[in-house]
Amino acid sequence: IALLIITIIAAYLLGSIPSSVWYGIGYFGIDVRKHGSGNAGATNTFRILGKRAGTVVMLIDVLKGWTATCLASMLFYMNEIGETELLMYKIIFGIIAIIGHIFPVFVNFKGGKGIATLLGMVLAIHPELALLCITIFILTLLASQYVSLSSILATLAFPVLSWIGVFGHPEPLLIVFGFTMFVLVVFTHQKNIKRLMNGNESRVNIFKSKAE
Ligand code: G3P
Repeated sequence: IALLIITIIAAYLLGSIPSSVWYGIGYFGIDVRKHGSGNAGATNTFRILGKRAGTVVMLIDVLKGWTATCLASMLFYMNEIGETELLMYKIIFGIIAIIGHIFPVFVNFKGGKGIATLLGMVLAIHPELALLCITIFILTLLASQYVSLSSILATLAFPVLSWIGVFGHPEPLLIVFGFTMFVLVVFTHQKNIKRLMNGNESRVNIFKSKAE
């Protein structure tokens, strides 16, 4: 149980690493929270500091989710536990990292919207489904240039595709997890949804170095 508590704390601290804030201030002397959408995430870093910085932050955030999720496999490497139980722990550690990303202890609990960290987690749990969600994200982004809309639709795609059973028998745990994440993502994207409805959400052109 002590090991479990330590792992939960580790997953939270890992998720808490405010890559966009630290990288922006450390490397460019710019706090991304004071510009653009004000969000401490990869998209806003891309928007403010350019393609390379945005990619670095995105990769770090993806890695946070992936590593936290993989902590479950490490923790239970020695123990004999069933597949469902292992999946449950992966989901728990992954969600804790996402919570850490959204409410990071290192920067006054004001973090990002959780998408890149969620992607890392989903890649660790179900890579095939993750790739399908990435495809939906890219297609939506190419069509609309709205990262927020792409994030929301790709997040929704996960439980829906699991439910349909695209990759075999639907796993109830994944469906419940997916819909819970969708609710969380709608919560973190409230301002984006309002802007999308008002028609003033900022567009991101992934082929340009900096967005207008
Ligand atoms: O992942 C965050 C993205 O969906 C929206 O970011 O900066 O446009 O609010 P932003």
